[in-house]
Amino acid sequence: MTRLFHISDLHFGLEDRTALGWFEDCVRREAPDAILITGDLTMRARTHEFVAACAWIEGLGAPVTVEVGNHDLPYFNPLARFFWPYERIRGIERLVERELDLAGVAVVPLKTTARAQWRLDWSKGWVTDKALAKTLAAIDALPSRTVVLVTAHHPLVEAGTRGRALTRGGEAALTALAARGVSAVLTGHVHDAFDLVKETTAGPIRMIGAGTLSKRIRSTPPSFNELTLDAAAITVRVRNLEHVPTSHMQIDDVPPDALPPREPGEPVAPVGAVPPVDPPVH
Ligand SMILES: [Fe+2]
Ligand SMILES: [Fe+2]
Repeated sequence: MTRLFHISDLHFGLEDRTALGWFEDCVRREAPDAILITGDLTMRARTHEFVAACAWIEGLGAPVTVEVGNHDLPYFNPLARFFWPYERIRGIERLVERELDLAGVAVVPLKTTARAQWRLDWSKGWVTDKALAKTLAAIDALPSRTVVLVTAHHPLVEAGTRGRALTRGGEAALTALAARGVSAVLTGHVHDAFDLVKETTAGPIRMIGAGTLSKRIRSTPPSFNELTLDAAAITVRVRNLEHVPTSHMQIDDVPPDALPPREPGEPVAPVGAVPPVDPPVH
């Protein structure tokens, strides 16, 4: 059995110290086999934000993989964004988009960020042919019968959450991954957790999204995903900081506002949850 903690969107600069401390305690107590981080370590890719994020990640004391998120590319300096987009994340270079091998399980990265795109909003996802080819080649090099998890920052297709990824090339990528028998695609970016199965022309594929450990919450409290992999299945448990029942965070039929369903007589907002806010830029 393999147990993984999947976290995302730490957004150092607007990190939630309570949520981070709670997660650290969970890691210390439960010692997961690895921690998978699906991007947006920082708010604006400032050096001090990366320093804080790196120190926190290093302090977890567990094997970690890190994806780059759109917030991890230089924001204020266009020259740096175009010519050295990944320079500032060098402090954790050995962790970035690294392949991680566990017993019978492989974690393979897929890059979905872009320094620029032919559309106004560069925060959205883009799977280039080159990025997809690199991921498929890594999958093809694995021993047969390996359980493959692909990690990326942006959901490849929409998951019905309030935040959207609008990933260019995402549907084709998802189909290619389904054709390879990938067990699940793990992502962040939308700041709300989900766990669903998407049909593609190459068959079904699981999509698992982690929420955020930052103050930039959308519809649900700070959370992380606990994945348990055994011979039979992958089980996902969404663990959230406030006392919202887990079943409410696991969305099979996603409501339009992605809010947890209400019990009869329950207040409109989950107990302890902060009302959703619309961040100006994602
Ligand atoms: Fe984010
Ligand atoms: Fe993002």
